[in-house]
Order: sequence, then structure tokens, then C-alpha cells
Amino acid sequence: MNLIPLIDKLSVENNLPREELKLLLGNMTTEEEAYLFATARTTAQAVYGRNVFLRGIVEFSNYCRNDCRYCGIRASNANAERYRLSIEQILESCRRAQELGFMTVVLQSGEDLSYSDDDISDIVSEIKRRWPTCAVTLSIGEKTRESYQKYYDAGADRYLLRHETSNPLHYAYLHPSGMSVRNRQRCLEDLKDIGFQVGCGMMVGSPMQTTENILEDLLFMKDFQPHMAGIGPFIPHSGTPFAEESPGSVQLTLHLLSIIRLMLPNVLLPATTALGTSDPMGREKGILAGANVIMPNVSPVFAKKKYILYDGKICTDEDASYCNRCLEMRMKRIGYSISRSRGDYKTLDDFQSVSHIDKT
Ligand code: 5AD
Ligand code: FES
Repeated sequence: MNLIPLIDKLSVENNLPREELKLLLGNMTTEEEAYLFATARTTAQAVYGRNVFLRGIVEFSNYCRNDCRYCGIRASNANAERYRLSIEQILESCRRAQELGFMTVVLQSGEDLSYSDDDISDIVSEIKRRWPTCAVTLSIGEKTRESYQKYYDAGADRYLLRHETSNPLHYAYLHPSGMSVRNRQRCLEDLKDIGFQVGCGMMVGSPMQTTENILEDLLFMKDFQPHMAGIGPFIPHSGTPFAEESPGSVQLTLHLLSIIRLMLPNVLLPATTALGTSDPMGREKGILAGANVIMPNVSPVFAKKKYILYDGKICTDEDASYCNRCLEMRMKRIGYSISRSRGDYKTLDDFQSVSHIDKT
């Protein structure tokens, strides 16, 4: 079966029937793969240009009440050294992000109940008071709609919450009892309804994930229409029940980045740190497969070393200014530049107004 016509169809219609989509998840020839990547990056460039947006991540606490079986900071990993950043340390990390020209900060943590909604809202509004043009993204897990509303009212712009898998059985295999696809998706719906730019996503190659599961994830994303999608390979962590599992495939991750770009042309799509960990050129390959965001870490180095979701995480010894220079060079080498704008989601109208951009 020649996949080129399917890639073209996906690129034009931004959709494919389930059975055709499934064919794209199987083996493809080197030529088909090159065509998939080229089509996806042309689409990304038509919407956002040859730009890569940076988001500075502040990992402000690795305490977590949850016990996700894949994650290194799960509550029952007694070997994880726990820390919390003070408000001053968080603001200092944001200042560093500003200094480096990152126009988005992502505040990420485990599900740490020691921060009240007011604490989070105070942090968000202080960041907005000091740097009004900086976008603030939260990535702090499942909350009630009322909590999300408070963060939004405090000025938060975006929220990342990967859906992880849309299949209930697979979800139950990856997560402790008490967590559910239903509540996860309820959170995502609430966030979108409130007005956040919302990101969902999943790991590729997580234990027991099937091609059918991935297909369901793609259909879920097509239906949900996220503004952002976080897709990275699963990487085992030695302190978790999945320590001995195999890592997810970089190649499949790249195929999925391209497919998602073609299904959701305007989506903000990171080449994730997990991708850069699994392959030294992973982030470059991700950008060339249609991704357009990189999320360097701006936490203090002592915190970076402790916020370990999977083994071997890159950039934990380097400070943010080093990564900034490194990324500038890496992106330049593949013909992209780092954008210093906020990198908000572009609507279809914005897209049409930039469609004159050179698509080569
Ligand atoms: N490998 C890859 N990604 C992971 N995440 C958590 N643990 C791992 C792992 N072992 C991802 C999850 C989570 C995000 C913050 O990091 O998808 O949503
Ligand atoms: Fe961190 Fe290269 S991006 S060292």
C-alpha cells in the first residue's frame, strides 16, 4: 500500500477515516517517512514560519499525591528527594526566563496540596504584575472547575494536562485507582470552557499501549481540538513499577508529531525533553517532523536534578542560559530561529492571513 496519497489526503482534509489513519501508524518506507515529515513541517511553517517558540519551565515542587505507575515523582517513590521552591525562588526563575527572552513561563509541579488556590493565584498575579507581557501556563494537575476559574481570573493564560490515554483500561493500568479518564477529560473540558489555551497529550510506547489506543488518542485529540499537544516517548524510571519496561520508540513519536500537525495544523507542538533524552538529536528531529515549541527548564539547578520523571533526563546540570545558547545553535543548524514572541495559538483566521508565507 502506497501511503503518499493518504499523507496528501490528511494534509488537505486534516482528517482521515479511522482505518486509513491506522495505516499511517504501521510501517512506512523511508521515502514515505521523509514525505510525511516534509508535509508536516511545511504545514507548521505555513502557520508559524520557521520559528521555534520557547517556554521556560519552572518545576516548583516535586511533591505529588498521585501514584502514576510511570512517573519518577509518584508518591510512593521514597527515593525521590522532595523539594518546594519558595515564592521568591519561583519569581527568580521567572526573572531568569524574562532575561533570556522567554515570553512564556510554565509553572509545573506534582499534585502538591500544600499550595492553596490562593497561593497559586497569588503567584500567577505577581508574575503578571511584574511582567505583564509574559504568558503564564500552569501544569499542576487535576483540580475542580472552581479552582481552574480562580487561576484564570488571576491571569493564567494556558494550562497543560496530558490526557495520557483515552482508553479506560489502559488508563487504569497506568494510574492508581481513583484516577479516571472521565475526570481527566472533565478537567480538560472545564479548562477549555473557562477560556484557557489548553494542552493535552500522551506518552508514546507507555506499557500496554496498543496501536488501537494511539488511534483512539488521535481521534480524541481531533475531537477535543487542543491548542497544544505534548507527545513524547515513554522512558522508564528505575524507582517505579515500570522500571524494567522498554522505552517508547523515537521513530513512532516523530510519525505521531507529523500526523498530529496534519490533523491540527495550528496546534502548538513541543519537541519534548523526553524526545531529546531518548535521542541526542530528538528535538531537532521533532522540529523537522512538524513540532514548533521547545520547553527549556529555568528552575534552579538543584531543583532540576530532583524533578526526575524518567531516567537520564537531559539538561539537569546546565543552567537556563546555557540551554538557551545551545538551543539557538541547534535550531540555527537546522534552518530555524528562536522566536522571542509569546507564541500564542493562531486561529484559523490568523492562519489564512499568513498563508502567503513561503511554504518551502
Ligand atoms: N516517561 C516519559 N514521560 C513521562 N511523563 C511522566 N513520566 C514519564 C516517563 N516515565 C510525562 C507524563 C506527564 C508529563 C508531565 O510527563 O505524560 O503528563
Ligand atoms: Fe540544555 Fe542543550 S538544551 S544543554
